[in-house]
Amino acid sequence: MHKTLKILCIGLGLASMTSCHNTTYKETQDPAEQEISRKVDSVLSLMTLQEKIGQTVLYSSIEDVTGPTLDTNYMNYLKNGEIGAIFNATGSSFTRELQKIAVEETRLGIPLLFGYDVIHGYKTIFPIPLGESASWDMDLMEKSARVAAEEATAAGLHWTFAPMVDISRDARWGRVAEGGGEDTYLGSLIAKARVKGFQGEDLSDINTLLACAKHYAAYGAAQAGRDYHTVDMSELSLREYYLPPFQAAVDADVATVMTAFNELNGVPATGNSYLLKDVLRDQMGFNGFVVTDYTSINEMVPHGYARDLQHAGEMAMNAGVDMDLQGGVYKDYLKKSLDEKNVDMERLDQAVRNILRLKFKLGLFEDPYRYSNEELETEVVLSEENLAFAREVAQKSMVLLKNDKQTLPLKDNQKIALIGPLAADEFHIIGNWSGRGDRDGTAVSIKEGFEAQNKTFTYVKGSEITGDDRSGFQSAVNLAKQSDVAVLVVGESERMSGEAASRTNIRIPEIQRELIKAVKATGTPLVLVLYNGRPLNLVEENEMADAMLEAWFPGTSGGHAVTDVLYGRYNPAGKLTLTFPRNVGQVPIHYNMKNTGRPQDLEGAHPRYVSRYIDVENAPLFPFGYGLSYTSFNYSQPQLSSTTLRDGEKLTIITEVTNTGDYDGEEVVQLYIKDRFGSVTRPVKELKAFQKISLKKGETQKVSFEISVDDLKFYNRDLEFVNEAGQYDLFVAGSSDHAFTNSFELKMRDTQNNL
Ligand code: NOJ
Repeated sequence: MHKTLKILCIGLGLASMTSCHNTTYKETQDPAEQEISRKVDSVLSLMTLQEKIGQTVLYSSIEDVTGPTLDTNYMNYLKNGEIGAIFNATGSSFTRELQKIAVEETRLGIPLLFGYDVIHGYKTIFPIPLGESASWDMDLMEKSARVAAEEATAAGLHWTFAPMVDISRDARWGRVAEGGGEDTYLGSLIAKARVKGFQGEDLSDINTLLACAKHYAAYGAAQAGRDYHTVDMSELSLREYYLPPFQAAVDADVATVMTAFNELNGVPATGNSYLLKDVLRDQMGFNGFVVTDYTSINEMVPHGYARDLQHAGEMAMNAGVDMDLQGGVYKDYLKKSLDEKNVDMERLDQAVRNILRLKFKLGLFEDPYRYSNEELETEVVLSEENLAFAREVAQKSMVLLKNDKQTLPLKDNQKIALIGPLAADEFHIIGNWSGRGDRDGTAVSIKEGFEAQNKTFTYVKGSEITGDDRSGFQSAVNLAKQSDVAVLVVGESERMSGEAASRTNIRIPEIQRELIKAVKATGTPLVLVLYNGRPLNLVEENEMADAMLEAWFPGTSGGHAVTDVLYGRYNPAGKLTLTFPRNVGQVPIHYNMKNTGRPQDLEGAHPRYVSRYIDVENAPLFPFGYGLSYTSFNYSQPQLSSTTLRDGEKLTIITEVTNTGDYDGEEVVQLYIKDRFGSVTRPVKELKAFQKISLKKGETQKVSFEISVDDLKFYNRDLEFVNEAGQYDLFVAGSSDHAFTNSFELKMRDTQNNL
């Protein structure tokens, strides 16, 4: 029988049925899932051991390596039916070509799965995820993931290694650029929005990508912010802060999960059966497949956890890892491990089922080429509509950090000196992990943005991003002297954040800081536009600049968006999702820290013997939730529906927000609470709700929040997720940096305070 015909028969459930009915995903009553389960079993029954192992093997098509390449023989393996998935192969024609080999030249013709890091766009690149998160706009983030999925699937892809849902509080760690910031509540909402965006309504639609929640788990807590470093963390912190975004992704039905590189409390995540089986499968209810990070099975040897590669593979497989990304360990050793009875056939079958199930859900058995569609690819990728949407997302991601004397927005009649190594840049602007985004001129630089809107300006580069060439300084200074405002576009290169880009110095590179000082000395009003993938120490810049706009790496349409914001065509409303410290010594720093027994602000505290630094204040430069607007907002004292909250009830909190400035604007209205004491200590504040509102100048809007008993639960010492009765404080504001204004009491039935 012809291979494609065979697959079609299997797809229709006509092939012989196997006796094995043991599914690894949730036992389901859903007839569609039952049907898929039957089809999966029927394919499985036809497979040889080598073919089964092949389904667990994922290789890169060479480019975009993020570790040792190890093995470049993927084409031979493909022809032998020894791999089930390929990553980094993109484009309709290339994926079609590879798929054809899998379908026509292998014994069973099982279609390949094509994966890729579609992190913030495929070819139309959106701002880096940390930037997008500053929009606090879930619909926007869902839609940008949707657009990324539409472009990527039109180019033959089935699967993205995103979203990264790692909570991190460490500006040294370069990968904060890829995530949603430091807060668990916000991070969980973002995880859900991004999974929904990538996966759409139904995986069988041809524009949906399998999502991948990564890196499981606690990767963002690497010691000293050094990438891949050790994580040692209490179970309480893990449960309360680091796992909930994964739970949110699982609740949104995320198809796959990627294991982290790091060890957690002595056990590498990739061989951690507690994390993968007990927590992910049994407690969270995950029913997709688990893939490793790049060669992370192999890395259990240098971790000092596995004796050799075979042992590493056994631990990964037995812990519940279904697919080996680039390591080749399953390919080379699984058969031996099965022969030696260190791995059961049933466990391998489970892994294969988990993978085949998703291939069926994507519709690949019906039509293996359905995603490789040249016409659609040309139509969808970089469409006008997508570029316009990328501009909107970039506008909404920007955070106005400072704006003295209303330096911004710029006026059309001002002569602008546009200076800096990133002002005319079309390379770094799309940031790290930017898919197939072009770095050769497709992106719109700020200079091009100014030109497109006919602004009056002159451009001088001034310096490179790094190095010690000061030869451009003088012309930058001369230009600034003759101009009304100097706009300097400065910051990091795209390679200074992202994977393997940890920094112990989180300042703008030295040469650029000198350039800023030189321009500042002219006395011309100074605006800094910042490109960076992490919080930076901006203490000196904050003193020098009249205005600072955090633009992150704003993506393909970034230059238009920055121009829109600088000239007030869009009034910025972004709020930080990661604290900006005063210096690297404060790191890790986050808004929801613990109070300690000796907080500085305690009444009667000794001036010296308190928890503080002797050389810098405790507060960060810019706190979580902070961000200015061209207008101003006034918040009324919140009104509470009651001063008590009982089991089963809800507490309503209403605040009036008024736009008191001269521009229409948007504001992220944030509600924070503090649990005064508990059986385990509680953070000084916790974000519990927020709403993004839009107000015309002079307009007032009532913003109403509801808090239920469930919103106040936390993990106690026995790791139970519970409520504890007691007094809570709250405030509603436009930043986390605000005093408490109200309080209420939580009364529970099962306490002395019972009703
Ligand atoms: C390593 C990275 O940690 C991970 O996030 C990425 O998805 C893989 N490489 C594949 O490129």
